[in-house]
Amino acid sequence: MNHILHVVGARPNFVKAAPVLRAIRERGMRQTLVHTGQHYDGNMSDVFFTQLDIPEPDFNLEVGSGSHASQTAEIMRRFEPVVLERKPDLTLVYGDVNSTVAAALVCSKLLIPVGHVEAGLRSFDRTMPEEINRIVTDRLSDVLFTPSEDGDANLLREGVPKERIHFVGNVMIDSLIRLLPAARNCPKNGFPERFALVTLHRPSNVDDFETLRELLNALARVSKDLNIVFPVHPRTRQRITEFGIDSQNLRLLDPLPYIEFLSLQTRAAVVITDSGGIQEETTYLGVPCLTLRPNTERPITVTSGTNILVGDDRGRLIAELGKIMEGKQKKGVTPPLWDGRTGDRIANILHGV
Ligand code: UD1
Repeated sequence: MNHILHVVGARPNFVKAAPVLRAIRERGMRQTLVHTGQHYDGNMSDVFFTQLDIPEPDFNLEVGSGSHASQTAEIMRRFEPVVLERKPDLTLVYGDVNSTVAAALVCSKLLIPVGHVEAGLRSFDRTMPEEINRIVTDRLSDVLFTPSEDGDANLLREGVPKERIHFVGNVMIDSLIRLLPAARNCPKNGFPERFALVTLHRPSNVDDFETLRELLNALARVSKDLNIVFPVHPRTRQRITEFGIDSQNLRLLDPLPYIEFLSLQTRAAVVITDSGGIQEETTYLGVPCLTLRPNTERPITVTSGTNILVGDDRGRLIAELGKIMEGKQKKGVTPPLWDGRTGDRIANILHGV
């Protein structure tokens, strides 16, 4: 392989692509970087490029937001000419966002091999848009890089030939390990000593008025005993405003840069989230995580790590928080190959092909 084209679009993609871009550059291979523009706010995109030391993209497709169909279609339409012009030997796609599936579709029809970083994860819940993206992307991929062995098992069960699957570990943890010293040096900036760190952005939690109001009420109750630090995703911020929900009891912050957010994760008494990646980061850091979802595509964070699924059971959330406050938190271990070397393993495999 001589020329790899990378496609990124949304915040979690940047964290995953950075170590792979670096490792491939070190091996002297040619690279092209395409940013679809799915995330475009400075604090959802530019600041991640700077902190993660990602080079300026060769192309920015500037697709912006839209319905799933229109966003996916627009990425495909604008991406196809780039592939035709650059003619890469392989395209690498990351994670499970709309940019991932759109790029995989375009390349597979142009007979360009596709590599999927973070392959094989399954929540078995097709109401989640990311699950559809994961299934389709894996189906179309020629080289599948898995973060944990449950991913290999899922792919084998779906009939993916064994020789296409490579268990390489978790690439998000490469970025975490590299920037942990910077995060530990990050000024505390007036944040409380003891706090719960909250993030919330899944459509199933924030797009329905009753559900979002109930969740914010539960968090307001929690905030009577434990300070809450809540950087708010633009989608959630929009819904809170649109629904006219009173969030005065909660201090809502703008989305934070990678290093500042990592710093908060290391110091949090507990993290309450519906994100995928944060379940993994807290497992690595050994910080308790309560996930506001009924299922997870990252089961290893529950079986080996510090993650507990509380679903939409507010009673369970309060009960688990109580245990954590009493110091009776779940202890975890670091899953295999979450060691900061995943980008190197991916680059070695691609270099050898
Ligand atoms: C996307 C991913 C999700 C991932 C999340 C991380 C899909 C289907 N979902 O969700 O898996 O966990 O990114 O953040 O790809 N918006 C802005 N500024 C931005 C980006 C978005 O204001 O820079 C607002 C827009 O109103 C937009 C909404 O957020 O409509 C949702 O953005 P979108 O990219 O569709 O999905 P996310 O919810 O960010």
